[in-house]
Amino acid sequence: MLFENNSLVLGVTGSIAAYKSALLTRQLIKEGAEVRVVMSKAATHFITPLTLNTLTGKDVYIEMFADDNAGTRHIELGKANGILVAPATANLIARVANGIADDLLSAIILASENGKVAFAPAMNVNMYNNPVTQENIAALKEIGYRFIEPEEGELACGDQGTGRLADLEVIVEEFHRYLHGQNRLACKNVVVTAGPTREFLDQVRFISNRSSGKMGYALANEAAKEGASVTLISGPSNLPAPPGVTKISVQSAREMQSSLMDYAGQTDYLFMAAAVEDITPAKRDQSKIKKTSLENSLAIEVNPDLVKNFRENDSKACIVGFSVEFEEGSDRSIEKMKNKGLDFVAWNNPSQKGAGFESDTNQIVLFENDGSRFEFPKAAKRKIAEQLIKTVVEQND
Ligand code: C5P
Repeated sequence: MLFENNSLVLGVTGSIAAYKSALLTRQLIKEGAEVRVVMSKAATHFITPLTLNTLTGKDVYIEMFADDNAGTRHIELGKANGILVAPATANLIARVANGIADDLLSAIILASENGKVAFAPAMNVNMYNNPVTQENIAALKEIGYRFIEPEEGELACGDQGTGRLADLEVIVEEFHRYLHGQNRLACKNVVVTAGPTREFLDQVRFISNRSSGKMGYALANEAAKEGASVTLISGPSNLPAPPGVTKISVQSAREMQSSLMDYAGQTDYLFMAAAVEDITPAKRDQSKIKKTSLENSLAIEVNPDLVKNFRENDSKACIVGFSVEFEEGSDRSIEKMKNKGLDFVAWNNPSQKGAGFESDTNQIVLFENDGSRFEFPKAAKRKIAEQLIKTVVEQND
């Protein structure tokens, strides 16, 4: 159970998503937590205290001074192992960011003994994107509070955009990781490359490959969750940048190389998950080549080896390469690791079911340059990213 012997405060504030706090309460209890619910007055318009009182079997607190024994209630509740505010409104976030403690929940947060407070915001997209809200969020993150980022989609008001309360499962998992996680990459600079590159022949046509970027994006997301400062250098991909990750978009291998080189000498870990195109047209036409001239227009050059060049400029970074090989994969992958100066190479075989390009799952074999071998059986790319980072960091320590 994720929260065995944990006393938690669940703060519920006045967003339409407050109705989801009933299910969230049940999940936290199922995971072993002792949950005490504190609601803002506005939240009581969206869900009744009775519902949450019935689910927890405990008093639900709303008022600062509701009864004779309330004097130090904020101090007592502030001793909880963790405080989760879900949903968190812009108003609550703003008050906490400014040290205002004018209701019970904000006073508990200010009085929190161990400062372990996580917010799962839910609000209209314009309220969320408002620079004032964003500044408040940034200020709280700076202090070490955790934000479980809202999702993009249709909002209750009918608008489209970011502001939907994160999935409850994600909230529970991220809150657990925040309270009990290892923060394996705290203070580390991580660079991840992802996606394909596009090598343009003219303004319309290009050479590329089937990479979707899913593995690289999952790694960037995972590294950020482990506390790293993450830069994601991505070729064309439809995926959104993971929360808290700085994304640099590139097209060609040479553009990717030029962005990557900016980080040589200041990177702790490089995950080179991009499917860098091996070839590029020798010349790029500035318009569209006529069909009649196409036949003889495709002179090819070989692209530089980005990761090899990076290693030549950065002897310290721990570098993990990715090798796509259908057959005799282990020998070839190990050969690449040596040749390119990698510390690790992750071999994927796309001919196996549920592995490789475009798939949501993967299975890999990871080789280390000291001869070690680790197998990660078929799982979601998110899970593979988690296991891979754990192994690489443990081995590299
Ligand atoms: O040689 P191969 O393409 O199989 O090597 C795979 C690894 O090398 C990947 O990590 C890939 O990102 C990287 N690579 C590179 N530059 C290239 C080709 C591949 O950095 N031109």
